[in-house]
Amino acid sequence: MTGLPADVRIVEVGPRDGLQNEKALVPTADKIELIDRLSATGLRCIEATSFVSPKWVPQMADAAEVFSGIAKAPGVAYPVLVPNLQGYERALAVGATEVAVFSAASEAFNRKNINASIDESIERFLPVLERAGADGVKVRGYVSTVLGCPYQGDVPLADVVRVARRLHEAGCYEVSLGDTIGIGTPGKARAMLRAVAADVPMAALAVHFHDTRGQALANILACLEDGVAVVDSSVSGTGGCPYAPGASGNVATEDVVYMLDGLGVKTGVDLAKLVETGRWLAGKLGRRSGSKVTLASA
Ligand code: HMG
Ligand code: MG
Repeated sequence: MTGLPADVRIVEVGPRDGLQNEKALVPTADKIELIDRLSATGLRCIEATSFVSPKWVPQMADAAEVFSGIAKAPGVAYPVLVPNLQGYERALAVGATEVAVFSAASEAFNRKNINASIDESIERFLPVLERAGADGVKVRGYVSTVLGCPYQGDVPLADVVRVARRLHEAGCYEVSLGDTIGIGTPGKARAMLRAVAADVPMAALAVHFHDTRGQALANILACLEDGVAVVDSSVSGTGGCPYAPGASGNVATEDVVYMLDGLGVKTGVDLAKLVETGRWLAGKLGRRSGSKVTLASA
C-alpha cells in the first residue's frame, strides 16, 4: 500500500492502561514479569505504570515497586503516567526518565477522571513540564475523549485541537490522541487527526484507540495513511479507564503488529514472543486474550 510510514513506533500501554482497569489487584511480581517479558519482544517503548493517587486507582498503588523492580533493557523507554507534581516527584524518586501527563478534550470527563477542568489540568501540568525540563526528563502528553465522551457525548474538534496544541506548546515531545471509549470510526478518526495535524506537527502525534466497537484497527490504518507513525496499544487487548464507563480494552498489540507485518511496515517487534506474552498475561488474568492472533506453531 502506498502512503504508509516505513516504520511505526508502538507504545505498549498494557502494564498501565491495561492493568489500571483490572478490578482484582494484580500481584506486583506479575506486573514486573509482564514488563520484563515485553522488554524482550523488541518493543521500544513500554508505559510501565502510573503514579496517580492510590485512592483513585488502587491497582497502581505499587507503582514505585513495579518501576524499581523491572529490568531496564537498553534502548527501551519506560514512561510512567503522572497527574501532578506529587506524582512526578514519586516517579523521579525511583529513577523515571520519561513521564506522561494527561488531559481530555471534554470538560465532563476531566472532572470525573482527575477532578479538574481542562484549564486547571493544564495549569497542573505546567510545573511538571518545567521541572521535567530542568531534570532532563522527557514528557509525553495524552488528550482523551478525542472522538466522544461518555458523559458529554460529542466533543467538538476545536476542543481536541486546542488541548493538543497546548500540551505540545507546553513541551510535550509527543501528544497521543485517545479515543477513550472506542467510539470512533475511520472517517472521523482521520478527520480528527487532520484537524490536529494542522496545528501540531504530525511527527509529534500518536494515536490511542480503545476497541469497544471493533473499530480500532480500521481507525489506525486510516490514521497511518494520513501520516501518523506512532501507535499506542496494549498486549492481549487489556485496558480501559476506570472513570470512563463503557471503555473496554485497548487495541491488542498483537493485532497491530500482525497487521503492520502484513503491510510490510516495520515495528521491530517479534510477533511470536508478543503472542506468547499476551497468552501468559491472559492466563494470569484468568481469561482469554483479547487478541485473535495465533501462530502457526501454536
Ligand atoms: P484529588 O482528590 O482532587 O487530589 O485527585 P488532591 O490533590 O485533593 O489529593 C487527594 C489525595 O490524594 C491526597 O491524599 C493526596 O496526597 C493524594 P490525602 O491528603 O487525602 O491523604 N495524591 C496523590 N497520592 C499519590 N500520588 C499522586 C497523588 N496526587 C494526590 N500523584 C488526582 C486529583 C489527579 C490526584 C486524582 O484524580 C487522580 O489520581 N486521578 C487519576 C485517574 C486515573 O489514573 N485515570 C486513568 C488514567 S487516564 C486514561 O486512562 C486515559 C488514557 O489512557 C488515554 C485515553 O485512553 O484516552 C491516558
Ligand atoms: Mg487509554
